[in-house]
Amino acid sequence: MFVRGVLVLLICCITSFALGLGDVSSGYELSAIIERNDGSIVAILDIIESSNLYGPDTLQLQVTISYEDQDRLHVHITDYDSSYKRWEVPLELIPRSKTPGSSPLKSHNTLFDDASETNSVGSERGSSHQFQFSYTSKPFGFAITRNSNKEVLFNSTPGSSHSFGSMVFKDQYLEISTSLPKSASIYGFGESTRPDGFRLAPGRLYTLWATDIASANPNVDLYGSYPFYLDMRSGGLAHGVFLLNSNGMDVSYQGIFITYKVLGGVLDFYFFPGPSPLSVVQQLTQLVGRPAPMPYWSLGFQQSKYGYKNVSELEDVVSNYANARIPLEVIWSDIDHMDKFKDFTLDPLNYPADKMKSFLEKVHADGQQFVLIIDPGIKTENNYSTYQNGLEAGIYIKDSSGSLYLGQVWPGPVNFPDFFHPKALSFWTSEISKFHETVAFDGLWIDMNEISNFCSGITCTLPPNASCPRGDAPTQCCLICDSSPTIKWDDPPYSINKLGSHKDLGALTIATSATHFNGILEYNAHNLYGFSEAIATNRALQSVLKKRPFVLSRSTFVGSGKYTAHWTGDNAATWNDIGYSIVGILNAGLVGIPMAGADICGFVNDTTEELCNRWIQLGAFYPFARDHSDIHSKRQELYLWESVAQSARKALGLRYRLLPYLYTLVFEAHVLGSPIARPLFFQFSSDPITLGIDSQFMLGRGILVSPVLSAGATSVKAYFPKGSWYNLFNYSQVVNAGEGSYHVLSAPLDTINVHVYEGSIILLQEEAKTTAQARKTPFTLLVAFPLQSTKADNSEPDQATGQLFLDNGDDVEMAIVAGKSTFLKYRASTLNTSGVIRASVMQGEFALQKGLVLQKVVILGMKAPPNNLKINNQEAASPIKCSYQASSHVEISGLSLPLGKDFILSWNTM
Ligand code: GLC
Repeated sequence: MFVRGVLVLLICCITSFALGLGDVSSGYELSAIIERNDGSIVAILDIIESSNLYGPDTLQLQVTISYEDQDRLHVHITDYDSSYKRWEVPLELIPRSKTPGSSPLKSHNTLFDDASETNSVGSERGSSHQFQFSYTSKPFGFAITRNSNKEVLFNSTPGSSHSFGSMVFKDQYLEISTSLPKSASIYGFGESTRPDGFRLAPGRLYTLWATDIASANPNVDLYGSYPFYLDMRSGGLAHGVFLLNSNGMDVSYQGIFITYKVLGGVLDFYFFPGPSPLSVVQQLTQLVGRPAPMPYWSLGFQQSKYGYKNVSELEDVVSNYANARIPLEVIWSDIDHMDKFKDFTLDPLNYPADKMKSFLEKVHADGQQFVLIIDPGIKTENNYSTYQNGLEAGIYIKDSSGSLYLGQVWPGPVNFPDFFHPKALSFWTSEISKFHETVAFDGLWIDMNEISNFCSGITCTLPPNASCPRGDAPTQCCLICDSSPTIKWDDPPYSINKLGSHKDLGALTIATSATHFNGILEYNAHNLYGFSEAIATNRALQSVLKKRPFVLSRSTFVGSGKYTAHWTGDNAATWNDIGYSIVGILNAGLVGIPMAGADICGFVNDTTEELCNRWIQLGAFYPFARDHSDIHSKRQELYLWESVAQSARKALGLRYRLLPYLYTLVFEAHVLGSPIARPLFFQFSSDPITLGIDSQFMLGRGILVSPVLSAGATSVKAYFPKGSWYNLFNYSQVVNAGEGSYHVLSAPLDTINVHVYEGSIILLQEEAKTTAQARKTPFTLLVAFPLQSTKADNSEPDQATGQLFLDNGDDVEMAIVAGKSTFLKYRASTLNTSGVIRASVMQGEFALQKGLVLQKVVILGMKAPPNNLKINNQEAASPIKCSYQASSHVEISGLSLPLGKDFILSWNTM
């Protein structure tokens, strides 16, 4: 219920409303305000003085304000005249209630210990609402205030400094701003490559328009659009703001304000109160959809290249990895396997079906997987069955003249399936299913889905007798296109800063006047194409494989993570790009796309031995770890240089040991939305130094990765937030960070620094060639206590906690279900001379049936050797052994504790 009285007039009588310098409009004034029975508030606004810049103003607006649950405030601004339908992101993509009062947070919240809450800020739960909404009448503006500390978080009312103008609402132009304190740290507004780092730099313009431009290009609109920002305020309080709008937009961040300039749709804002950054992402994904469960195998290392010439090259790559004893889980195929780049076909000469079949039989017999690419453009060819099936289903996008929109991609002239079309899913599923009978792929890679188009035109035709694509320049346009705009959708009055130079919206993609099912304009839906394709591909794969789907998509929107993983696109093999990759991955995780990675060793240009070495050390800890490169780049498989191979064995060795931990993070992402790779401030938000750190990142709550990102370095300066951090390669190397400090760590060529944080409990298995083999190895429980107790009076115990989720790894559902999965919580504490570790199991049958056992317990931060070790209150006896490594850790081996059963392990050190 909307609590009466929360609407407070901040300023009510502003009399001067003439247009200010730089204003597009004088703004609106409140004419009526109604409280509805459902608790929402509706305000009616009238234009004060209309202007024609960027088109006529919408004369009357309707603003609906509703609390959708304790955590979310929704402010929706649209045309009062409901007969004029404005574009909104379809409910099929982001299902949401149009009326207030949607579901509360799921009980999954209790499964994971949210350390970020305890380390940073107190929980605000319990208050009836966390925000207060207030407004000014003339010009209309609104403010959102945090109830607990009365801090204004969002304020669209133009201030006395008049640094931004009033709200504008026109057919093809919306503008709204919010003021910010200078001290706020802002993150988000992807997707672009960010030399400035993860925290946004004042003075930058972020353009959101899905574009096929290599991510090697900094500061331009890339493949995806994320109209979301996270705002960190002093004291570590976080909130999030999501503008649910898929139109092209410029977002300008000026340090003390943010201005959105949007090409259409509605102003549909969701405010998430946090108060921790982790809870902001959880609240966002509760709205847009929790991330897809990922198959266990997708956590393995993957090799790809554009330019593997034939099946034997693929075979060689796989066997070279085996010979070099570097784990390889997935071998990928780019467009090379296709017959003249046509989807769902095989090149009969280089990739014949019989050879592919026997290759994949071997791959699968060895516990490995195969993923291949599909692009959306379907070649317009008479005897090409996929094309004909699409024609029959009538699912292609049309141009403004009503003909099928003709574009050009790798195969030459193409039409593009419209995934908004109700028949598109069955068309897509049927093509995927038929092709799967020929090629037993395990996952799909959907590329070029911005949509990429090598021609730019409002309408295009294929010239008679054209050679298309021309020779060996397949990206050169070979169609004849008319590019002179005649309708407003191709040439809007306001031009966003596409590609940093106000390029036409239709450049490198299809015309914005093109239409989808039911007349949906590309103008409105452009940023959603990759999202809609990911949904169809995920559903198709699930129905074909009857298993948990794996999809990798280049173009994504906030919410795509429910269906797909993501990689950062065509980066370059440079020392800059290796650093940018961390920011790209953190930005995806921020909007609910946690399964993200960058092309390891770099895509364009030739990598170098040293760069590839450092990159696999870093990439081994990306959530999605794939080496991929361009057709023009030299080969860069990890076995090609001994130094790289050595680093790969070491870093991937640790990744594979960490698989149970990583997979539990996949589960946490799926049920709560938590990113897998997280910025340090997600855990240490009250430590202001962490707000600017993006050359290091965390995996979950417990692991800190501090890579080398520059040439010639043999050490790395890394920041460690308060407490003790244990090197995962050598537990006796401990960083004692005190209240938080920088440390220079040794990082010779074969070394990456990865640390586990005090207070964590992590499950490890053994290194192996594949994830399937790793899953058969025994478990080790790693418990990290602080090296020196932080508790002043020795009356409070030091604690550590952790979780483990286990299931088959590829069931469609990823949930805690009797007989199908097991969830465990571990708690450990130590005080003075005694300590205890407790395992409590939910649904233990799965782990018991599989015979999973805990063989070893490693306790870090033990001040003295343990004595009197007891398991379930029984004296521990042979073959259990206990060894103590001076002043740091104890190893208890020879255990055989079933993972499916509770246990208590206790000791004292007297
Ligand atoms: C695009 C993709 C790249 C792929 C290439 C060929 O550039 O981003 O990953 O290798 O197309 O399909």
